[in-house]
Amino acid sequence: MNGRLSDAWLEELRSRVSLEEVVSEYVPLKQKGRRFWGCCPFHNEKTPSFSVDTESQLYYCFGCHKGGTAINFIMDMERMEFMDAVRLLADRAHMELPERTSQPGEARTTRDERERMYEANRLAARYFHDLLWTDEGAQALNYLYGRGLNDSDIRRFGLGASPKGWDGLLRHLEGQGFEAPLLEKAGLIVQRDNGKFDMFRGRVMFPIINAQGRVLGFGGRAMGDAQPKYLNTAETPIFNKRMGLYALNFLQKERSVGRLVLVEGYMDTVSLRKYGVKGVVATLGTALTEEQARLMKRYVPEVWISYDGDAAGQKAALRALDIFDAQGMPAKVIDYPEGMDPDDFVKARGLEGFEALPRHDSTDYRMLRARDGLQLSTQEGMTQYALRCCAILSKVKSPIEMENYLRRLVNETGYDREILLRQIGATPRAEQPAHTGAARRPRRPRPEASGAEKAEQELISMLAAGLIPAQVLSGEDFSNPVHQNLAEWLISGKTANAYIDNITDDAVREQVMRALNYSPLVTEREKALEVARDCLRTIRRQRDLQRDDQLKQQVGTASPEKKAEIYRQLEASWKDSED
Ligand code: UTP
Ligand code: MN
Repeated sequence: MNGRLSDAWLEELRSRVSLEEVVSEYVPLKQKGRRFWGCCPFHNEKTPSFSVDTESQLYYCFGCHKGGTAINFIMDMERMEFMDAVRLLADRAHMELPERTSQPGEARTTRDERERMYEANRLAARYFHDLLWTDEGAQALNYLYGRGLNDSDIRRFGLGASPKGWDGLLRHLEGQGFEAPLLEKAGLIVQRDNGKFDMFRGRVMFPIINAQGRVLGFGGRAMGDAQPKYLNTAETPIFNKRMGLYALNFLQKERSVGRLVLVEGYMDTVSLRKYGVKGVVATLGTALTEEQARLMKRYVPEVWISYDGDAAGQKAALRALDIFDAQGMPAKVIDYPEGMDPDDFVKARGLEGFEALPRHDSTDYRMLRARDGLQLSTQEGMTQYALRCCAILSKVKSPIEMENYLRRLVNETGYDREILLRQIGATPRAEQPAHTGAARRPRRPRPEASGAEKAEQELISMLAAGLIPAQVLSGEDFSNPVHQNLAEWLISGKTANAYIDNITDDAVREQVMRALNYSPLVTEREKALEVARDCLRTIRRQRDLQRDDQLKQQVGTASPEKKAEIYRQLEASWKDSED
């Protein structure tokens, strides 16, 4: 994820940024010893359990276990992607981002240039909006009225009109001191052999604004039959369609909605929001990406997919479900009746109608779609349906959910439960959607750490604090793979911060931060070694017990000779642990 940044550059950034300074811009902090304390910005609390360690330059909340480096803090607070957080911190630290090494031909974009692009976009949005209220924008204004919006809706979303001529915006921005090459880079104008002209001409303009309130680009809708129906700003140094979402600027004030509503279009977003639905966002003229799913996960614990009720929308909803599933983001689907889209629907039935619509959970929706194109009144249709549903159920992990759907399938198809179970078991696993490595890792750390788990955490916290020498430990002392990886990193003499900045999975980061902050009972080196020895003993004992359990299980099915062998091993391990 930080492929273009060298370790040395990131190290330099970390050393120039003071975490306590960054954090105190968001959270009032009080110093006690080497830690600063405050109320956690990531969960509700009245007594401070959130702390910033001035030495390690890591933050950690003892209540909700969120923690990490300054980069993680900005990512979580500002809902930013890694590179954007790095950019923000680099700005603070007056560091230039290193040149992009991946695309050598590409001209480099400096910080100043990016600022100029934001400014050009802001002025362009202003210009399009102002034009609406003039003769030149009358057609666009009437179009928007015709779609049911009033002046206040139009202002709220900063909608506008692009002029019909060739270079209205170009001339306007040149008049403000902007040069054509920068405007081209920002996607606002196009340069061809026969001259330069505006990118957007005679369209209704939807500015795309990020969470920080900066205009990144535009979606422009044709008013007649001009193609394409929507023209979007191309990829630019400040506009990445994979990463962003439409209407993100409203979300900062909607943190408590608890779920996001994902729609296909700009117009759906505006319309649902006009009728009072909160937390509505849309992708930017493209299909949902993994990055967008991860971004949404940072805002809320659940998303409602609210795509058009036509075949294309339904197909896209299934794809979106795959993406959310892979990111471990719970998703439900709203299925609009009679091919309606959210805009049509909310106009006809209002907020109440929207709230009353059933929301299908992922399996339910997949089963609903499994009926498409089949005639369930025929044996063949029913067989196909059962097969499709068994393939769907083979991916269900929760036994209770499985039981519920299995009962439903028995009811619907009349097939025997055992037969269906066998079919579910026989469905090839290879059909499962491709998962990213990150998604397969454990989602939540075990809630209650066992004795050995705690011992591993304690060892790591002492190791990271420099209380015990690395030589007394090895990666193999750790059973938990997250601990093992981290321990190996620390043992090799590298810093925890560098390790943490490479973690992409929030659950893994949480486990790492828990371990690093397992407050050691000792702070003196002399005692630390003794404690470490105790920890290693606890871990070893736990391993022996586990091995015994395995051996005992094998006894049941073993041959007489094998049994004798197992008893010998058990006895030996008991003797060992007595020493
Ligand atoms: P739709 O065709 O469903 O448009 O495309 P819509 O949002 O319902 O718009 P109206 O109601 O006809 O005005 C959904 C989204 O797909 C992208 C846009 O982001 C659009 O909002 N799209 C569609 C494009 O980027 N280009 C197109 O030509 C069409
Ligand atoms: Mn639509």
